[in-house]
Amino acid sequence: MNAFIQGLPKVELHLHIEGSLEPELLFNLAKRNQIDIPYDSPEALRKAYEFDDLQSFLDIYYQGANALQTEQDFYDLTWAYLERCQHDNVIHTEIFFDPQTHTDRGIAFDTVIKGIVSALKDGQQKLEISSQLIMCFLRHLSEEAAIETLKQAILYKDDIVGVGLDSSEQGHPPEKFARVFEMAREHGFLTVAHAGEEGPAQNIIDAISMLGVSRVDHGVRCVDNEALVAQLIESRMPLTVCPLSNIKLRVFDEMQDHNIVELLRKGVAVTINSDDPAYFGGYMTDNFVAVSQAHLLTHEELAQFTLNAIDASFIGDTQKQAYRKKVTDYLNSVV
Ligand code: ADE
Ligand code: ZN
Repeated sequence: MNAFIQGLPKVELHLHIEGSLEPELLFNLAKRNQIDIPYDSPEALRKAYEFDDLQSFLDIYYQGANALQTEQDFYDLTWAYLERCQHDNVIHTEIFFDPQTHTDRGIAFDTVIKGIVSALKDGQQKLEISSQLIMCFLRHLSEEAAIETLKQAILYKDDIVGVGLDSSEQGHPPEKFARVFEMAREHGFLTVAHAGEEGPAQNIIDAISMLGVSRVDHGVRCVDNEALVAQLIESRMPLTVCPLSNIKLRVFDEMQDHNIVELLRKGVAVTINSDDPAYFGGYMTDNFVAVSQAHLLTHEELAQFTLNAIDASFIGDTQKQAYRKKVTDYLNSVV
């Protein structure tokens, strides 16, 4: 089964590029930028990655992002992630970046986006991995700060396909950002939002109705509301689920308890994603393997995760068609 998963073409729709910063690269960047890290080695840092909940992770994640200073740093970060994609047979990826994490400590928006975009262009040319970029607002910050950030994103509209909402869900519901999302949609950005990760099912309902999202990031708490699950099935609203993340952040105790397979079998458009792979112990293949070790899945069901992700992606129909064919050709070649 692991060989099947390894070879399966994959599409990632929920990946925070800052969350792909591996301890080894973090140490290299800190040295290059003469920044002190309160750990002796990458191994010691990795050992500190034990989390009780989302907030305990975010505290360490924002600290780690301090090592990122120059355009080259953002290039190296993104390139390292794309090499992992190549290894895992990821054919398309839509990545999040959090500009406020950087602009708030004096790094220019331009520096961040140029580094990421030039690596993504090289990824397309040299590795044949297609990609899109989604800018997230940090929901623990104010609406005004989000509006300022949106104004900067408008200058880079050609490079950014959509906007999203991440960081601490508790106490920062979708309605706080209804106006800024409306402005973003008026400027032609697609929208997504983290909802129903730690927060209630109502946040999923509100993300759909108040933010006009095309996909819900996480969304696993939808099971608390039967009518919502029925609506997700009916509308084929995609959920970008992150299995290893959910275990690390204790959304579920164990992978056996995870509801992704139950949702798949009910007809919800669930997808598998890695979220912050450097912190949660695995990239795309690792996430697929972890789910399939805990739940008996057929080849067709595993491939369905990729087909759902292709449908939910922000690429054109011709490219979607070509990617669907890659998956069905692969299925036919192994069955
Ligand atoms: N930022 C990075 N990863 C996140 C997650 N899983 N939830 C909310 N915000 C995030
Ligand atoms: Zn996330």
